[in-house]
Amino acid sequence: MEFTFLGHAGIALHLGGHHVVIDPFITPNPAAQQLGLRADAVEANDLLITHGHEDHVADAPSFAERKEVTCIANYEVALWLKSKGANNVIPMNHGGVITRPYGTVRMVNAVHSSTLPDGTSGGHPAGFIVESNGMRFYHAGDTALHMDMELIGRLWKPDWAFLPVGDCYTMGPEDALEAAKMIQCDRIVAIHHNTFPPIALSDDRKNRAVAAFAEIGKQLIFPHLGQQIAA
Ligand code: NI
Ligand code: MN
Repeated sequence: MEFTFLGHAGIALHLGGHHVVIDPFITPNPAAQQLGLRADAVEANDLLITHGHEDHVADAPSFAERKEVTCIANYEVALWLKSKGANNVIPMNHGGVITRPYGTVRMVNAVHSSTLPDGTSGGHPAGFIVESNGMRFYHAGDTALHMDMELIGRLWKPDWAFLPVGDCYTMGPEDALEAAKMIQCDRIVAIHHNTFPPIALSDDRKNRAVAAFAEIGKQLIFPHLGQQIAA
């Protein structure tokens, strides 16, 4: 198993031949353009969307209209994707777990907002726990630090977590350290930073965060766009 950082909050999980793409934001991302990364070159079987904001759904319709792609999102975002031409949707909601060919997908809480680009309601924002072959991946979506993370640590202890660290719209790296403790996860991948000026982190702040994680035996990784990491 491995995963690829697609930029911003975008992650592709490669689970024994199944590709699970979460929150792809590639086409409007100048950094992806510079690298020549194209959304249509990213393989996908399942598309998971955490909430309705533009920087999480911009590329979603182009993935959703592929015949082989199944979209998994909250009810409101799933219906919106259907209206944009999605072939297969599985609407779900917080607390639900669905079985997929590679394992399970659980929808968990996130503290944020979720209006869709056309101004309609994107329901409540979410995170996901994807489990495959005993390995658990937690994508927090856009979120503040919140107490439900204690529950994630108590019940599911993810092996890998993708946490937003860019501050302003989500938690910053200092709160992400508290989140890592609460979810009882030692391998954290930093997402949702530096794409736009309000979420830019200085090198100094990144370095201090990496050191603070290391001090308690945890790894904070700032992957470069397109980097593939073995899980
Ligand atoms: Ni958002
Ligand atoms: Mn966002």
